[in-house]
Amino acid sequence: MGNPSIEVLADKSALVKRATVLVLEKIQSALQERGQCTLVLAGGSTPKPLYEAIAAQSLPWDKIHVFWGDERYVPHDHPDSNYNMARKAWLERVDFPEANIHAMPTGAKDATADAHRHDRELQGFFGVKAGEFPRFDIILLGMGDDGHTASLFPQTEVLQVCDRLVAVGNKSGQPRLTFTIPLINRGRCVIFLAAGANKQNALAHVWGNSADPKDYPSRFIQPEGELWWFVDEIAARDIEAK
Ligand code: 6PG
Repeated sequence: MGNPSIEVLADKSALVKRATVLVLEKIQSALQERGQCTLVLAGGSTPKPLYEAIAAQSLPWDKIHVFWGDERYVPHDHPDSNYNMARKAWLERVDFPEANIHAMPTGAKDATADAHRHDRELQGFFGVKAGEFPRFDIILLGMGDDGHTASLFPQTEVLQVCDRLVAVGNKSGQPRLTFTIPLINRGRCVIFLAAGANKQNALAHVWGNSADPKDYPSRFIQPEGELWWFVDEIAARDIEAK
């Protein structure tokens, strides 16, 4: 587990440009080394321009598989859906094979059942047994102003889940599906994107060495592979580790 590579970019636009370069590099590496790329998408608003930038590339879409690190428990056509955001920003703009789009299921009206279903889907895709954690090539993550990532929110039960790939997170009583900490930490290349003044406080705690990870769950992300942080200057302003 190496040290994080941290880059502070002038603004969000520069952050997205830089992140696009790295993601494209990592996609090419995966294609060369394994003949395919498994890419996990983050939700929220920050990554949308990154997905638009990837859509403008000419890539072998049939060799790229996309997954989501978390999903709000709403229909896929709902405006809050992370799947919906990525589809509009990227996937429907290119000739992306439907079979390569591995959305988190949200149709069972039972988040636990859908989390279990997706866990089995991922096991099947990677050919692993229960209890084994597959390695995704690239995992994109955002960070909330409370230090959460994916749908791993502070002081929630999902932070303790270590025997499954996918579990049910909880944001203020609302269920969400999320990758678990051990699954994210198996990632070959984990990339955080965080921009804006509202991230300053959380960033100082996550990058510091005294905050309890249960209060700032992004601190739990210590991948076996590479860990990258792309932040803008305003988010990183006045960073003195807390
Ligand atoms: C979600 C995300 C969540 C997000 C952060 C940052 O479903 O909302 O997965 O973890 O990445 O909340 O969101 P912004 O990029 O909008 O700041």
